[in-house]
Amino acid sequence: MAKQKQLKLGALLHGVGGGTSMWRHPDAQPDASVNFGLYKNWIRKAEEGKFDLIFIADGLYITEKSIPHFLNRFEPITLLSALASVSRHIGLVGTLSTSYSDPFTVARQFASLDQLSGGRAGWNVVTSPLEGSALNYGRNGKTEHPEHDKRYRIATEFLEVTRGLWDSWEDDAFVRNKETGVFFDPAKLHTLNHEGEFFTVKGPLNIARSKQGQPVIFQAGASEVGKNYASKEADAVFTGHERLEDAAAFYKDVKSRAVSYGRRPDEVLIFPGISPIIGRTPEEAELKYREVASLVTIENALDYLGRFFEHHDFSQYPLDEPFPDLGDLGKNSFRSGTDKIKKDAREKGLTLREVALQAATPRGDFIGTPEQVADRIQQWFEGDAADGFMISAGVPRGLEDFVEYVVPILQERGLYRTEYESDTLRGNLGLPVPENRYTKQKALVTPT
Ligand SMILES: Cc1cc2nc3c(=O)[nH]c(=O)nc-3n(C[C@H](O)[C@H](O)[C@H](O)COP(=O)(O)O)c2cc1C
Repeated sequence: MAKQKQLKLGALLHGVGGGTSMWRHPDAQPDASVNFGLYKNWIRKAEEGKFDLIFIADGLYITEKSIPHFLNRFEPITLLSALASVSRHIGLVGTLSTSYSDPFTVARQFASLDQLSGGRAGWNVVTSPLEGSALNYGRNGKTEHPEHDKRYRIATEFLEVTRGLWDSWEDDAFVRNKETGVFFDPAKLHTLNHEGEFFTVKGPLNIARSKQGQPVIFQAGASEVGKNYASKEADAVFTGHERLEDAAAFYKDVKSRAVSYGRRPDEVLIFPGISPIIGRTPEEAELKYREVASLVTIENALDYLGRFFEHHDFSQYPLDEPFPDLGDLGKNSFRSGTDKIKKDAREKGLTLREVALQAATPRGDFIGTPEQVADRIQQWFEGDAADGFMISAGVPRGLEDFVEYVVPILQERGLYRTEYESDTLRGNLGLPVPENRYTKQKALVTPT
């Protein structure tokens, strides 16, 4: 009998949380975002749960109204490199921006992480939605945030260059023969010589490939241009849908776009991000949700909402009137998210207070007993809404509860691994090792 399709799991490690107020919970560690000991505990817990990966998100601009986690947190590559040495199987995925970095540096950083972790690196390619990021990366007196669609054109060329650099050395290029004095075979070293619209990069890169070939590419585009980019380029896509129907529509959309780019649907894996809240009874789970939600003040919620709209000050509007008409505000930042907020508010006739609280205290679909949460996961997975999930803790001990109580149920149902299949991220995700483009070319021209 063919083996049942297996669910994939990732853990979004987000310090004191992705919301405004979890740090105030009696069981929360308020310095979690810069507490390396806690990150070590979390990665060990995720590995105990046989998770495919951990993910460290990132952003490049803060104001005094940013959420606590954003104010004081580790840079992803640095943190992941440290975590590589306290883990063995789990993938190490981090965000890095194509709008505010250089391909040569990024290629080196991820290739280094990939080598030092033995083939476990993944890159979440983001185009940086926050306009303010430009203020931290000014050059020659210019601080312009590239327009949304242009950011994706930059990202396309950026990734092309990075992938080209990663193939600089063929896998058997380093002969290191002490007797002959030959360190490497020059025929197996390749110089990229890229000259494009945005980047001029000669190469070669000064580090070779890892045993998984190249780091795994993640993406979270959700706008039209973002979805095209993700479907064409990414090995895995993060999404933020809260309802099964929306997630299933997105899943179908991205898979069919991938097919239109000549890919197989299973070459791109879809990971909705969820925050399960688990209780011994449904009531206990609900109480846990309410405990965290009750810590969020309306001022917190307005600030949280403001970040998606270029740090717009929502305190200037009446709270219990219809959500204000914002025109194009938000189009050049989190476009797909801000479009959805505006559309929902209009269609459902929501007030500003309702919109802000919905955004800052999302309830999600995954609250209940371990069996109920496992049922929901199974429903999404078997309903073609997800290939896997990114688990983030919506309450203190959220990850621990998930691993201890939900994972065994998923394993019992045959939906999820009980042992790692591989020690590389590609291996565990079931993705092939990409052949070096130059080795491939040679194979094509060499007569057999
Ligand atoms: C699970 C998930 C994780 C994300 N992580 C990041 C991140 O670390 N940094 C970032 O700038 N944006 C992050 N984003 C936002 C995306 O980069 C993107 O801006 C957003 O999904 C909107 O898509 P669009 O650019 O196509 O409009 C994330 C989105 C999701 C759903």
